[in-house]
Amino acid sequence: MKKKIILDCDPGIDDALAIALCCASDEIELRGLTVTHGNVPLSQTLDNALGLISFLGRDVEVYRGTTRPLIRKPIDASNVHGNNGLGGVRLPLHSRKPNSKRAVDFIIEEVMANPGEISLFGIGPLTNIALALRMEPMLASAVAEIVIMGGAIGEGNTTPAAEFNLYADPHAARVVFESGRLTTMFGLDVTHRALATAERLAPLKGMGNKVADLVLGFMESYQGFYADTYGWDSPAIHDMCTIAWAIDPSLFQTKRMRVEVDTNEGPNFGRSVGDSLLRSTDAALIDVAFDVDADRLFALFAARIARYRN
Ligand code: RIB
Ligand code: CA
Repeated sequence: MKKKIILDCDPGIDDALAIALCCASDEIELRGLTVTHGNVPLSQTLDNALGLISFLGRDVEVYRGTTRPLIRKPIDASNVHGNNGLGGVRLPLHSRKPNSKRAVDFIIEEVMANPGEISLFGIGPLTNIALALRMEPMLASAVAEIVIMGGAIGEGNTTPAAEFNLYADPHAARVVFESGRLTTMFGLDVTHRALATAERLAPLKGMGNKVADLVLGFMESYQGFYADTYGWDSPAIHDMCTIAWAIDPSLFQTKRMRVEVDTNEGPNFGRSVGDSLLRSTDAALIDVAFDVDADRLFALFAARIARYRN
């Protein structure tokens, strides 16, 4: 049976790969894209989402979300994704417009109209999902599951303690972790093991379709951050892991842990604190992804990208 998902995103280069994989995979029914502030401001993430859906030739509704986090001051990751959020890559002009309904209202209405059927996938800061959980007290019991790219049991990528999506809105992340419906966390522990190496991207070269060429174009600038920051010769495609898992969970190894989000301002602000000994009885009991068969992951990705026709 298809997995029915709402994908909450902040495109973002790796968000774009997740959206492209999602839209080429019959295992997933994408019920809508909700867009949040994050990698770049909402005005840009929203246009990127609209431009991507237009470029991919898909009739998926796009919903405008929040412009800023719940409490903390806004931050962005333009140092990673470029000022336009797509590494400077310009998508063709498009005439797509966001749906008039707000993202939070769409999430609530779609989930409440289909109790137990809709999964929420969050691959950006979790402000939209947190607001929906607060506005509709019954949402947590009606949603099938919440899956996120975010957090790190080990070191962060934005501060030593925190990964970007959680650090960009720690309070929203805490609402989601405490909702009792977060089931699976794809943090840096696994996404830093899914690097887009030249060998793994090779099938895209010469594929002769515009989506493959777009992905390769994204990698050029995206790679720069990883070379400068980590000395790696390949970038991590964080968000795409969540969609690949939805298609084939066997790609990943997970560990059941208790995880809570630190919302105390200070060196651990936005940290996802993991407890593999399950001592913290009130922290979220979730599956944390720790390993991935990266070669199979990229083989799946390339095979699905090959389905696009110019
Ligand atoms: O830390 C990686 C996450 O932050 C990814 O979702 C990326 O798109 C950025 O939003
Ligand atoms: Ca993202």
